[in-house]
Amino acid sequence: MRYDRRSILAAGLACAAAPALARSRQQSLADADGPPLRARAARKGLLYGVALQTRNLADTPLAEAAAREASLLVPEYEAQWRIIHPEPQRYDFRAIDRLEAFARSHDMQFRGHSLVWHLLMAQWIQGAIETRASAERVLVDHVTTVVGHGRGRMHSWDVVNEAIADGNPELRRTPWLAALGPDYIDIAFRAARAADERLLLTYNEYGIQHADASSDRKRAAVLRLLEGMRRRNVPIDALGVQSHLSAGLPFDAEKLRRFLAEVAGMGLQVFLTELDVRDRDLPGDEDPRDQAVADLTRRYLDAALDERAVKIVVTWGVSDRHSWLNDVAQSRRADGRRVRGLPLDEGLARKPMWRAMAAAFDGAPAR
Ligand code: XIL
Repeated sequence: MRYDRRSILAAGLACAAAPALARSRQQSLADADGPPLRARAARKGLLYGVALQTRNLADTPLAEAAAREASLLVPEYEAQWRIIHPEPQRYDFRAIDRLEAFARSHDMQFRGHSLVWHLLMAQWIQGAIETRASAERVLVDHVTTVVGHGRGRMHSWDVVNEAIADGNPELRRTPWLAALGPDYIDIAFRAARAADERLLLTYNEYGIQHADASSDRKRAAVLRLLEGMRRRNVPIDALGVQSHLSAGLPFDAEKLRRFLAEVAGMGLQVFLTELDVRDRDLPGDEDPRDQAVADLTRRYLDAALDERAVKIVVTWGVSDRHSWLNDVAQSRRADGRRVRGLPLDEGLARKPMWRAMAAAFDGAPAR
């Protein structure tokens, strides 16, 4: 999915207010369908996680619902370079520390996203990476300091995010590619491993789960990238498949299975890192829309979870009350209704998508 700088910032800062339900009522809504997703995932050796931003913590019912359902937390945008390293000599870990404290107090693990991305880069970077040596210094310093901050405590970090282009050439033209060539990826992973040797290191990518021509091309490019990293002995543990599903795109379970099997065959784990469903191509009516979102989620997870290398499933948010899909022009609905692409509805009740996830976890082979 393409999105511009203005809309991603808006998405980062937006937080829809919604009436809070009384705690007891929420608890009974939650209990209606039995155990939460985190328990169902745990039975199969899976982890279910959610992305949140610090503003969500002020919405206590939402935050509590997230903690009830999930056992892993990911900062939605506050670990990105622009927030965490706003000036060359200044790091700011306040936001992710708050998210981590919330995670710890709710028995959730904490995962980092992301160290190197072409979006949400700090303004100062461009002027500081004009020579190869300075670029390498800036990159290694950032990765070392940020990974060092959470050393020994993090579940995993997305080391490089979205390095593959949607068209040609294969690697996206970013300031890092311009400064260091394709090596920037290896440099970042090696620095991450050096800073925390037990951390799981992930390459994270979008647009690789559907069966359209662009997904086909990108899957092939991801395999080439991962094979090259393996050949060069670059430390990497997992592929992150973002999983921003689109109800308007074709899905082919066999293609996905073959791809995941190839990744697993390289000795890598697979994380589904940002699951949600773009519903702009579905009818406005809520019932059929929720059912179609749930059906796609179920088909996707059934195929993906059959592969035992898939270890975690993270949704990009937890409730339709707050989803970046409403803030980005490419996924907002033309009819002005809110996107319903997450497991809980705006009132924090479990939706058909929640039940699809529960059934997929229940039906998954143990790992
Ligand atoms: C989005 C967040 O949801 C927004 O809050 C932020 O403003 C921009 O980024 N792929 C990614 C995520 O890897 O970081 C993006 O998250 C969604 C697409």
